[in-house]
Amino acid sequence: MIKVLFVCLGNICRSPTAEGVFTHLITQEKLTDKITVDSAGTLGFHSHSQPDSRAQSAALKRGINISHLRARQVTREDCYEFDYILAMDKDNYATLQSLCPPAQRDKIRLFLDFAPQINRREVPDPYSGGAHGFELVLDLVEAASVGLLADIRHQHL
Ligand code: 4NP
Repeated sequence: MIKVLFVCLGNICRSPTAEGVFTHLITQEKLTDKITVDSAGTLGFHSHSQPDSRAQSAALKRGINISHLRARQVTREDCYEFDYILAMDKDNYATLQSLCPPAQRDKIRLFLDFAPQINRREVPDPYSGGAHGFELVLDLVEAASVGLLADIRHQHL
């Protein structure tokens, strides 16, 4: 089993969106017996919360229901448990690098590095902005999900 963890700050906007989009993709591709997906936040502040209602609505417009997801804080155990630990931005990346022991740090990547064609390395935090930010999160996450799946197929399947 290949285990993928998406990480943002709150685990209520970007990383649950990525979890929903990537789960949708691997379900379409009939790979749910080979790949598992989870998400977490570097902050514990929103633990147990549902995804932000704006993230839920934006995902649902694209046919993806994320209402069942609940936020949690990333742990040191996650560094060992997961094969891919994917940070939404450079702050999350730095936090994960400090959390995880040196031998586990190669697993930590910027998620958008799986979509080099989009010329962005970070998924912008949409929390304090308008609806457009949530559409952008979906566009970026959809593009990087395709690249991530190609990488997993190439490396592992
Ligand atoms: P996320 O968005 O990291 O994409 O889940 C945020 C959610 C909450 C906060 C910041 C970002 N916050 O500061 O409460």
